[in-house]
Amino acid sequence: MTLEEARAQVANRLRAAGIVSAEVEALLLLEAAVKLSRSELILSPSRELTAREQTVLEQWLVRREGREPLQHILARSHFYGLELVVGPGVFIPRPETEQLVVLCLETLRGVADPKVLEVGTGSGAIALAIKCRRPDAEVVATDISTEALNVAATNAQRLGLAVSFLRADLLDTPAVKEIAARVGLMVSNPPYLPDRDRAVVSPEVKRDPESALYGGRSGLRQARRLERQARRLLTPGAVLLMELDPRNVRAALESSRGWADASIFEDLAGRERFLKLVKG
Ligand SMILES: C[S@@+](CC[C@H](N)C(=O)[O-])C[C@H]1O[C@@H](n2cnc3c(N)ncnc32)[C@H](O)[C@@H]1O
Repeated sequence: MTLEEARAQVANRLRAAGIVSAEVEALLLLEAAVKLSRSELILSPSRELTAREQTVLEQWLVRREGREPLQHILARSHFYGLELVVGPGVFIPRPETEQLVVLCLETLRGVADPKVLEVGTGSGAIALAIKCRRPDAEVVATDISTEALNVAATNAQRLGLAVSFLRADLLDTPAVKEIAARVGLMVSNPPYLPDRDRAVVSPEVKRDPESALYGGRSGLRQARRLERQARRLLTPGAVLLMELDPRNVRAALESSRGWADASIFEDLAGRERFLKLVKG
């Protein structure tokens, strides 16, 4: 089988399995199976796959047809230009969260040696992207999941980015409280889906850890807890930025009281998704 034939066959099977981005995913699977770059792949359409490459590709394809996330199969995810290791115990970073990083970087513009705390870091995506763009920043990231923190620390080491990681339930430990009281920016993409979404999420989303997804009946359980804790701990002028569900971000804004400023920002699809709160 040639590369061209394999690409068409994989794309057809992915399409039949209900995968929307079948063409792109076919390329990604093939690139990884034959260890060629995108341009090498396209420039050698008649190159034959070895028996070993065909076996690997077939095994991956069967897993993807079973709706296992591509990122789990390839053990990699891409976020804000960084390649991150991911696996079943950790949330796969989503493209819309890149916009949260943009908002963080805008908030930090003009601030020398900023101090940043990320709450619920998962694979480390947000914290590492900030540290990468702002090497002068002191970045600390937390999560309640030890598995996530191990993955995040591996990513930091692979990328050579100095981010510190701590285990905590939101801001509920003395060490994290002390950090929260001296940062200029706190950022979080907390679990924010309403519990009822369990019945409707895609098979791929079902592979994310439950504790990374669901925020109680309203979806706002963790976000509201964090907002209250942050309001008590942040110093005047400090900012809390959160990514939320477009369905509940306005409710979160309305229940956030006692801040000097509160505003909502849209994602690139024009949906209200991010809440920015400034401590008075
Ligand atoms: C939606 S994921 C976001 C992960 C990562 N920040 C990202 O954007 O890709 C939410 C993360 O919050 C963590 N988390 C859930 N409850 C938490 C809590 N009470 N305290 C700290 N982290 C929590 C989860 O383990 C998960 O890693």
